[in-house]
Amino acid sequence: MNTPKESRQDQFANKSQAWSARFSEPVSDLVKRYTASVNFDQRMAMQDIEGSLAHAEMLAHCEILSQEDLQAIQKGLAQVREEIQSGQLEWSIDLEDVHLNIEKRLVELVGDAGKRLHTGRSRNDQVATDIRLWLRDQIDQIVSLLVDLREVLAQQALQHASTIMPGFTHLQVAQPVTFGHHLLAYAEMFERDTDRMLDCRKRVNQLPLGAAALAGTSFPIDRNRVAQTLGFDGICRNSLDAVSDRDFAIEFCAASALIMTHISRLSEELVLWMSPRVGFVMLADRFCTGSSIMPQKKNPDVPELARGKTGRVNGHLIALLTLMKAQPLAYNKDNQEDKEGLFDTADTVRDTLTIFVDMMNGVTVNAEAMRAAALQGFATATDLADYLVKKGLPFRDAHEVVALAVRTCEERGCDLADLPLADLQAFDQKIEQDVYDVLTLEGSLNARNHEGGTAPAQVTKAAQALLSRIASFKNSN
Ligand code: ARG
Repeated sequence: MNTPKESRQDQFANKSQAWSARFSEPVSDLVKRYTASVNFDQRMAMQDIEGSLAHAEMLAHCEILSQEDLQAIQKGLAQVREEIQSGQLEWSIDLEDVHLNIEKRLVELVGDAGKRLHTGRSRNDQVATDIRLWLRDQIDQIVSLLVDLREVLAQQALQHASTIMPGFTHLQVAQPVTFGHHLLAYAEMFERDTDRMLDCRKRVNQLPLGAAALAGTSFPIDRNRVAQTLGFDGICRNSLDAVSDRDFAIEFCAASALIMTHISRLSEELVLWMSPRVGFVMLADRFCTGSSIMPQKKNPDVPELARGKTGRVNGHLIALLTLMKAQPLAYNKDNQEDKEGLFDTADTVRDTLTIFVDMMNGVTVNAEAMRAAALQGFATATDLADYLVKKGLPFRDAHEVVALAVRTCEERGCDLADLPLADLQAFDQKIEQDVYDVLTLEGSLNARNHEGGTAPAQVTKAAQALLSRIASFKNSN
């Protein structure tokens, strides 16, 4: 600990806190631990250095900092970066956060030039900048994973454009669909998720630096220059807003919660489909585990965990919303609590998507089991009703006729297509031989031959359209 005799100038170099000149007693160890963030915010070290380099370059350009100081800072920060990357730098909670740790090391290395780096800047605009840089990179990774997942789904859909499975409502067999169509439903969800992430990126990618503590700075800075150096689309227009709001992070968490929600729906289906009772698909062994006691088991652990991890991501969203709620302008220390949940959200989404790309690519389909299930649930009942409507019966009456036919089938333990023509005609005289064309699963599918429908021809078209959207996205990025 420092002594009161210490000269003012040496304070930052020697003392543990950057702001401690007017404090008469040190904080307790518990308070130090309670208020420190370096254990988690050191994840933003590279972004912190990148931001400092851009800030210093601008200060020199605006003649607020000398060229010699700039060079010293550049050299020093390059070394700090190396020390961090090689694990040499010793992080200290005495120095509270990533920003002060890096700055302290810089001052140790280059002296006064390092102390000048913080001119026209505050940790408030610094941390907001670091988070945005960090998050922008995460968004780019997540978008690219979403694109990969959609591509895998499109390829599987092409392969299974005419693989028949039962479509469900209320988890009851409803109408036949194709497995490809089913997968493309998820591809749609993940496409909207991609768009949401890209939209969120626009608001993340605005530069807070220059806002300083809250009111801006008295130095003649050039914020647009820093924005350009760091690849931001523009600058935050209001300094109070720039340092205080975390809505961009909340948006990211909301978009992430939706991704995980979609993943959890797919996971639920995979779990169900993998149940031996259903047996529609098999996941590759590397995504499953066995039981320590029941040797026959092969458990779909990965989809189950993904379903479970949706909970923590939803939780982080609520935590961030609650963190922001009712905070007065401008920066408050509450905001230090924004990071761990945000980091965990990005990690969870990234890991989950990475695994799902591989897992969905390796799904094997039991087409016979799917077909058998579709045959079991009177999946073509609506087709029989539609057939009667086309012969002139009002839909409600047709619905009644088919309900009676289904009841008869249930009593006899057969499918609608198994009823002899004479028996069908007993329900309604309008029924003729051509009824069997619509009572088959293929007939039912092919009849839904319009955009967005499940006919194999439409599924193939939709999968191809998706692949070409992906190709043009990849070309433009
Ligand atoms: N570690 C702080 C955070 O994460 C950095 C900003 C601190 N600013 C302040 N005035 N104490 O928000």
